[in-house]
This record gives sequence, structure tokens and C-alpha cells, in this order.
Amino acid sequence: MTTAVGAARRGTSAGAVLQVFYRVPRAGAVRLSDGGGPLGFDITAALQIDHLIGAYDCDGIVETGCFVGDSTEYFARRYPHLPVRTCDIDADATAVASHRLADLTNVTVETGDSAQLLPQLLSGLSRPLVYLDAHWYSSWPLARELHTVTRGLIVVDDFDIGHPRFGYDAYDQVVCGPQLVADARADLDRMWVGNPYADYPLPCLQTGRRAGRGFLTVGLPPGPLDDSPMFTPIPLRPVVMPDWSAVEALGKERR
Ligand SMILES: C[S@@+](CC[C@H](N)C(=O)[O-])C[C@H]1O[C@@H](n2cnc3c(N)ncnc32)[C@H](O)[C@@H]1O
Repeated sequence: MTTAVGAARRGTSAGAVLQVFYRVPRAGAVRLSDGGGPLGFDITAALQIDHLIGAYDCDGIVETGCFVGDSTEYFARRYPHLPVRTCDIDADATAVASHRLADLTNVTVETGDSAQLLPQLLSGLSRPLVYLDAHWYSSWPLARELHTVTRGLIVVDDFDIGHPRFGYDAYDQVVCGPQLVADARADLDRMWVGNPYADYPLPCLQTGRRAGRGFLTVGLPPGPLDDSPMFTPIPLRPVVMPDWSAVEALGKERR
């Protein structure tokens, strides 16, 4: 395994992630069960996203549900050449995030319902990374958000990957997982989730709750997801969850 210090020194993309990730204040600790920090303080999620932003040559990052801006700050500092557009329905949260991010000129923070704001946030972008993390209240916008995105690489946070170490959300007994995606997007027949057993160049230091993440492409080719061991495919019709013991065994075999 590449050491973290080695990655940073050699100027790799993992090094660039490392340079920013642990410097972002974990302001979200005031409410988030994982203690706050960018992407649930799980650097393997940052590495997955970093791979995809590079491979898809993304031209912007759109986040829904910024809370106080931990992930927004990470995105803005790691990708200063990209517009980073975010929103939250909680005006107190966006006031904090706007104040915190005021010096980062690539960031736009909007207040309102994410599904309604998404067309505006996505406008002019042809290969956006769309990070869907708006939830907490009875009106959960995820299905509406999924309907709204017409083109992009979508990352859904707090997603059921069928692995006991990884948490996920559920509202009114609807699980944030592959079946929700299958129901919301009749045009998709598969998606991907993060693979915990890939050989990541940096170790995850999140010892508390880790969240699963789902990845899907709309109008973009699947190659970068299919070709990287960081992602495991899930058929959607019908949904078949990964056999993680087989994935783990395959990972060991490859090393
Ligand atoms: C888990 S927090 C987001 C954490 C943040 N992405 C981060 O990484 O630090 C979820 C946020 O979604 C927001 N939210 C809930 N429903 C929303 C909606 N319909 N539109 C926009 N934001 C919403 C909540 O106010 C909350 O701040």
C-alpha cells in the first residue's frame, strides 16, 4: 500500500486529496452523527470522487444539502478550477456556510428546496459531479432530485450498500438504496457502490459511523466506474446486492 506521506510527496492525486481533506474543519460535528468533516470524514469517499472527477473531466460540482459546508469547503479547496454550487433548505445553515466560504470565489450557496434548485445549480454544466446529501426532514427530496438530473455523475450519500459497517438513511420505511434508484430512474439498469475492499492509497480514519455511497451515471459512459476497483456494480432490474465476501476474496487474490 502507498503510504499517505509518500502519496502527498509524490504529487499524486491521492496526495492532493490528502493535502486538503484533513485541513477542513469538522464544523458539522454540532449535529452530524459521524462527527462532521468532509464526506463523513471518510477519505476513501474523497478518493472515489477524485477518481471520477478526473476520469469524467467534470466541469462543475453540485451538492444538495450543504449543512454548514464541511464537504463544500473540501470540494472548493480541492478543485479551485471548478464551480462548486450548493444549497440547503435551512437558512441558518446556509448563513453559516456562506460566511465560512466567503473567501472561496468558486462557491455559490443557495437557500431553498434542493429538487427545485437543481435545474439552476446544474445550468451550463455538461459533466457535473452531483453529490446528493439533502435529507433529515419528512419531505425527503432524493427521488425528486434523481428525476431532475438529466446529465451527470451522481453520488448519493448515506446509501445502503448491503455491508454491515456502512450506515444508510431510511424515511417512512423507504430505504436510501438501489431499489429507490431503480424506482426513480426507469432508464437505468445498473449502478455502482463504493467498494470497501479496494486497495486505497490512503487509510480511512473514520472510526465512528461510515456511510455507504451510491454512484450512477446519467448520459455519461460507465467506463470509469466499471474500470476502477473502487466501485462495485449493482444490477437494478432486479436489484442484486453485492456479495461482499466474494468481493473481499477477489481483492485479496489481486494483492
Ligand atoms: C447530512 S446534512 C448535509 C451534510 C453536508 N453535505 C456535509 O457533507 O457536511 C443534510 C442537510 O440536508 C438539508 N436538507 C434537508 N432537506 C432538504 C431539501 N429539501 N433541500 C435542501 N436541503 C435539504 C438539511 O437541512 C441538512 O443541512
